[in-house]
Amino acid sequence: MKAVIPAAGFGTRFLPATKSQPKEMLPVYDKPIIQYTIEEAVASGIDDILIITGRNKRSIEDHFDKSYELEQTLQKAGKDRVLKEVRKITDLVDVCYVRQKEQNGLGDAILQAENHIGDEQFAVLLGDTITKSKTPCTKQLIDVYSRFEKPTLSLKEISTDKLNKYGIVGGSQIEPNLYKINHLIEKPKIDEAPSNLAMVGRYILTPDIFDKIKETEPGVDGEVQLTDALTKLDEVYGVLFEGKTFNIATRFDWLKASIEFGLEDAERDELIQYMKTFID
Ligand code: G1P
Repeated sequence: MKAVIPAAGFGTRFLPATKSQPKEMLPVYDKPIIQYTIEEAVASGIDDILIITGRNKRSIEDHFDKSYELEQTLQKAGKDRVLKEVRKITDLVDVCYVRQKEQNGLGDAILQAENHIGDEQFAVLLGDTITKSKTPCTKQLIDVYSRFEKPTLSLKEISTDKLNKYGIVGGSQIEPNLYKINHLIEKPKIDEAPSNLAMVGRYILTPDIFDKIKETEPGVDGEVQLTDALTKLDEVYGVLFEGKTFNIATRFDWLKASIEFGLEDAERDELIQYMKTFID
């Protein structure tokens, strides 16, 4: 399966950190956000990735490109461990890029992938979202997709005060963690939200979405919303996926993700000791 990673947004919620660097390149603990996303795609069996970029996003391409000078310098200095890490990035998967010329929203960003995707189902992983789970989130969606062969989205329950920050769905629960969706609304007011189930940045889509996006008028924030295009499809499934998700568009999630991945490191005990100094 191919994957599309939209990474063209301005990152306004993370200014000033994103003034001259893409949000997707902000490090979470020891690597850029988008590397986590690509690693999830690869771990889910995806072997073809298209990143939708925009102006000021060149560092994303540089990050996944080979850096001969850096590799030679590390080799000469005998820094084998770091060299291995640097090579791992380029060896992950082949990445292609296409630019979204105007920032017209997530739906419009996905539309830029139409030629690359052709007539196949594909995964979408938002470049500013990191997930952490035993089975990669995208793989959990692929498993459900292979049963119904209909668009499938990742969901998480969120608190009422965050409803207006996400696309929210309503539907009937058909299995413990599976919903058949009949209502989707982008960033609703609290009293308009059909549930507290939010779409959290992973989708398996079918190519008919491209025509639906073309029929979609600008919605919330004057942007062509993927959520609005999804409402035009007949059958959509939502998976309450098993694991954690971090929406790095928000500073607090960025901090939480850095701690979460820091705790997996050899310095775990030191980090725990440090955090304990804030209690009492
Ligand atoms: C986008 C989607 C929204 C989704 C969210 C997840 O919004 O439009 O439906 O819930 O990502 O992070 P954004 O955060 O880009 O405004």
